Amino acid sequence: MKQATDVFNDWAHRGKDEGMERGHGPSVREMLDAALERVLSEGDSFSFADLGCGNGWVVRLAGQHEQCQKADGFDGAEHMIEKAKATDSTNGYHLAVFPQTKPPQQYDLIHSMEFIYYLHDPKQMLHSIHDDWLSENGWAVIGIDHYEEHEESLGWPEALDVHMSTFSEAEWIQMWKDVGFTEVHAWRANASSDKPGTLAILGKKSQH
Ligand SMILES: C[S@@+](CC[C@H](N)C(=O)[O-])C[C@H]1O[C@@H](n2cnc3c(N)ncnc32)[C@H](O)[C@@H]1O
Repeated sequence: MKQATDVFNDWAHRGKDEGMERGHGPSVREMLDAALERVLSEGDSFSFADLGCGNGWVVRLAGQHEQCQKADGFDGAEHMIEKAKATDSTNGYHLAVFPQTKPPQQYDLIHSMEFIYYLHDPKQMLHSIHDDWLSENGWAVIGIDHYEEHEESLGWPEALDVHMSTFSEAEWIQMWKDVGFTEVHAWRANASSDKPGTLAILGKKSQH
């Protein structure tokens, strides 16, 4: 099987990152709205990081928010990061392979869209998001389009020849609780009568 980062590096060269921006936009906007409502009830400003940020479009979206004091993106596909840096010199973009990468700082909001299931052990990543990446009282919001109830998505690993970790909606939610997240909320973002939508999950870092 191919490495996901190699596949998406190639997508970046072929301009397919722009299609992801369009396709994921409606779900991500819902996810950010729901997360920011909670984050901004904790403080007047926030720091933001996007894991598996692709060409960085969500970093730029969050970075435009008037209460955002720092926005960083991390991705393992070299050309995605090159594109992000070429488009935007205000926010930070970092070539970073997960789960190995440790955060340069802790963030108030961690976002991730269509990234975590490419990992062989997404629970380990969630654990690291909770323990290493989030600041005290921080929130995470993650969007997943490949899950057991989304039948069409079950053919994607074979079609792309890339590993994807497959779990049901209930298993994903349990994972968040197991690694210590509190106030876990899950919903289907951008769902309609003919599409199941993005499994969106958010949660708060628990106090130790
Ligand atoms: C489906 S794309 C989504 C990109 C972006 N979040 C968006 O919505 O447009 C998945 C991204 O995750 C990155 N990725 C996958 N596995 C990774 C890993 N192990 N380490 C770092 N990045 C990874 C890929 O390079 C790719 O840019």
